[in-house]
Amino acid sequence: SRHFALLPAAGVGARMGADFPKQYLELAGRPMIWHALRAFETHAAISRIYVVLSAADGYWEGYDWSGFAKLSVLRCGGETRAQSVLNGLEAIADEVAEQDWMLVHDAARPCLSRALLDKLLEAVRDDAVGGILAAPVADTLKREGHGQRIRETVPRQGLWGAQTPQMFRYGLLREALRRAGAEVTDEASAIEHLGLSPLLVESDASNLKVTFPHDLEVAGWWLDRCSK
Ligand code: C5P
Repeated sequence: SRHFALLPAAGVGARMGADFPKQYLELAGRPMIWHALRAFETHAAISRIYVVLSAADGYWEGYDWSGFAKLSVLRCGGETRAQSVLNGLEAIADEVAEQDWMLVHDAARPCLSRALLDKLLEAVRDDAVGGILAAPVADTLKREGHGQRIRETVPRQGLWGAQTPQMFRYGLLREALRRAGAEVTDEASAIEHLGLSPLLVESDASNLKVTFPHDLEVAGWWLDRCSK
């Protein structure tokens, strides 16, 4: 079976406070999504990369993508991340087999290293369900009650923060997302709704998601570090 990457990039990035989609914010001289795409472009195991854009996206064409030989652009983004991923999967039904692996990766995670991608591919290769990169939670967790006061402490033992890529077989993932609805915030939770338990593959803080403006500076630091 082959491996395909699919990057949902149809969000508007409201929390960034920017006036354009955050995947295009500049990082090390390139739009952020360039770095996310490059991790897959340069990996021999990945056959093709699908990017899901919003139909209204007027930024993509402003950049030079000629260095990306594996890239296919799908302009079928949806209202939510899950809907964008599902629309993308439906759009490529003729090109991908049920048993092929899909690696769904956020356009907003530009620092995915070769080492972590290799680790995921290796760990999930023969898995019956699939798996995701994730990092054990480091902070002590609090549940909020009334008036922004702590109601309780949630034991962090056994809690992980989900990252991407999330790696599942095409047929299973499409079925899971069709059933789960647009609200699930990652692919794994759609799979969980089928009663299955995806594998947690241990990652680290380098694979951060850029959500708030200062995250961009941290991402720049990680990129710089990994290129040395
Ligand atoms: O907003 P958030 O950081 O959770 O978005 C994660 C990823 O999902 C981003 O790459 C974003 O572009 C994408 N997304 C999407 N369609 C949406 C919302 C988010 O493709 N409707």
